[in-house]
Amino acid sequence: MTNNILAIESSCDDTSAAIISNGLLLSNVMANQTVHEQYGGVVPELASRSHQQNIVPVVQAAIKNAGLEPKDISAIAFTRGPGLLGSLLVGTSFTKGFSIARNIPIIEVNHLQGHILSPFIKEKKSDIVPSFPFLTMTVSGGHTQIVIVRDYFKMEIIGSTIDDAAGEAFDKCAKVMGLGYPGGPIIDNLAKEGNPEAFVLPKPKIQGLNFSFSGLKTAFLYLLKDEIKKNKNFIEEDKADLAASLQKTIVDILIGKLRKASRETGISEIAIGGGVAANSELREKLTEVAKKEKWDLFLPQKKFTTDNAAMIGIVGYFKYLQNDFASIDITPAARLNF
Ligand code: KG4
Ligand code: ZN
Repeated sequence: MTNNILAIESSCDDTSAAIISNGLLLSNVMANQTVHEQYGGVVPELASRSHQQNIVPVVQAAIKNAGLEPKDISAIAFTRGPGLLGSLLVGTSFTKGFSIARNIPIIEVNHLQGHILSPFIKEKKSDIVPSFPFLTMTVSGGHTQIVIVRDYFKMEIIGSTIDDAAGEAFDKCAKVMGLGYPGGPIIDNLAKEGNPEAFVLPKPKIQGLNFSFSGLKTAFLYLLKDEIKKNKNFIEEDKADLAASLQKTIVDILIGKLRKASRETGISEIAIGGGVAANSELREKLTEVAKKEKWDLFLPQKKFTTDNAAMIGIVGYFKYLQNDFASIDITPAARLNF
């Protein structure tokens, strides 16, 4: 029997809806919020208001693009957390309303599990997906972790950041350079014209598989301060070199830990996810390392690395197969582990 899962993602500043039909992605619609750019970061109250405006048209478009009608939806999956409470509340409330109106079950999804299982999003039946166990590194604006994925719902975090996330390092350094928000894609573009060896930034000495990015951010700030004293046009003149050097340092830190994790666990099936997984240098370097280390590497398409409802839908689909439904009394959770 056909199952059509409608999925909703509203944990941060993008409203997204997707349809997964028998495990295949039929549509994935996204409304990006631009209102935050002028503030250099996401303003939670503005994010929830934009979600309220966007959610109905985004869901309507997802259902229409899939060639379906509301009556064809078998279940509705939504991001319960972690994320901004007001934003999550919009997705959760919409989900409950839709479920009551159509008399269909709801499925709660952990946003991080969405990033982790994003390599299972299939647009065609022939798309290749990882096999278990695999290692994945989730690198986003809020999280940096290495996870052993033993099965769809059996995962173990073996390393995570002790302070800032990798995406935060991109965003905060871009902010002090006076670049826009989010900083990651801007640095990625600028770095293409810069020399990655121009500035030497410190790499943290953190034991094991954990990460730290706050020292790098501070070192970057001091570098800017020192150089601006000598030349007040320093940032403008050197921004491509600064971007390239920063990006190289972050990418080296990430790949160093992933390589260590693979060696220690003996797992050579490797995936990445989260917004920073869209970074071109990270993708290129990982592809080179994968050849040397003989990894089977899964690089998700860029549209599935940043927040999207397709990844919520694929988790929803696996839960649907297990009849793992949530109660209508469920509440969103800003902090949520798995
Ligand atoms: O997964 P995501 O969309 O949202 C969270 O769950 O946090 O990740 C957003 C993060 C931001 O920090 C953004 O700067 C970063 O991903 N990002 C990138 C790139 N595209 C997005 N960082 C580096 N290079 C990129 N191309
Ligand atoms: Zn995310």
